[in-house]
Amino acid sequence: MPLAWAPGRVNLIGDHTDYTGGLVLPMAIDLGTTVEWSDSPAGTTFRSSAEHGTIDLSDPRTASGWGRYVHAVAAVLTESNHRLRHIDATISSTLPIGAGLSSSASLEVAVAASLGAPMSTHDERVQLARLCQRAEQRAVGVPCGIMDQLIVLTGESGAAQLIDCHTLDEQRVPITDEVQVVVQFIAHRTLTGSGYGERVDECSRAQDVIGPLRVATRDDAELLADPVLRRRARHVVTENQRVRDFAVSMHRGDYTEAGRLMVESHHSLDIDYAVSIPAMNEAVQRLVDTPGVFGARMTGGGFGGCVVALADRSTDVDGWKVAATRGAFVSFD
Ligand code: GLA
Repeated sequence: MPLAWAPGRVNLIGDHTDYTGGLVLPMAIDLGTTVEWSDSPAGTTFRSSAEHGTIDLSDPRTASGWGRYVHAVAAVLTESNHRLRHIDATISSTLPIGAGLSSSASLEVAVAASLGAPMSTHDERVQLARLCQRAEQRAVGVPCGIMDQLIVLTGESGAAQLIDCHTLDEQRVPITDEVQVVVQFIAHRTLTGSGYGERVDECSRAQDVIGPLRVATRDDAELLADPVLRRRARHVVTENQRVRDFAVSMHRGDYTEAGRLMVESHHSLDIDYAVSIPAMNEAVQRLVDTPGVFGARMTGGGFGGCVVALADRSTDVDGWKVAATRGAFVSFD
């Protein structure tokens, strides 16, 4: 049976910067979504090994729950004049749902692949990332950026990618054998109904006053009269600089500095951007206090989800219930 597989992702640094065209530094992980299918002359259906129900692309009533993503992907592909394969498909996932590891972007990309979306060249993958981003926005009404879909489609094993979300240029940032990336699950979350849309709106209001945040300076941010917009802009501007500095530190093998930048990023997301929660702050502190850990921070949209840490390879991560061992190490309580 043919099958498609798409990874999830963890973001090492650069959160809430993608939707203003800023910098992010995510990596694809070895947990992901698999779609297996056989050709079907009659039409297209999707079943899930974990969820109930059959999603039938010819029946809009099946566009609820996880079916919203499947229908939205099919719709954006059709609107872009892609001829969809007719299949009977089964979806399974090793990604925890709603844990901030991009289970939805992974699902969208795996479904698009099974429906025959072109993705053999880099340009095709970037185009597909844009379409899947649109599908995500349509499925759940969250004005998300491009980071998740893009890294799911262009991530490489053994490296993270520095992505400029304005130009969509990518630079490989190797994760060497000296270090390991550890992810800890903290709390389930959904970005629907969270403050995510509000943050996107606050950034756009800040940009109305000081221009594009991706090129603004910290002094520009300090000019904002509204204290909330000033804090939001300060996070984005300083976070973009931290992503640049983090990439340099990783290339140099200066993991102490890379870790320091991760912790600074976390504080900025907590204090200036207000997207962390107490359980994540405590987890970050616990990780930072652990010998061999260079730094830790929340990862992704926030309001729950996971924290990510950069640690020395020889650090014993047994206590964190390591579950995956390629790309990123993932643990769940
Ligand atoms: C979610 C969104 C991304 C990005 C992150 C925060 O994962 O889907 O586009 O905005 O939050 O960095």
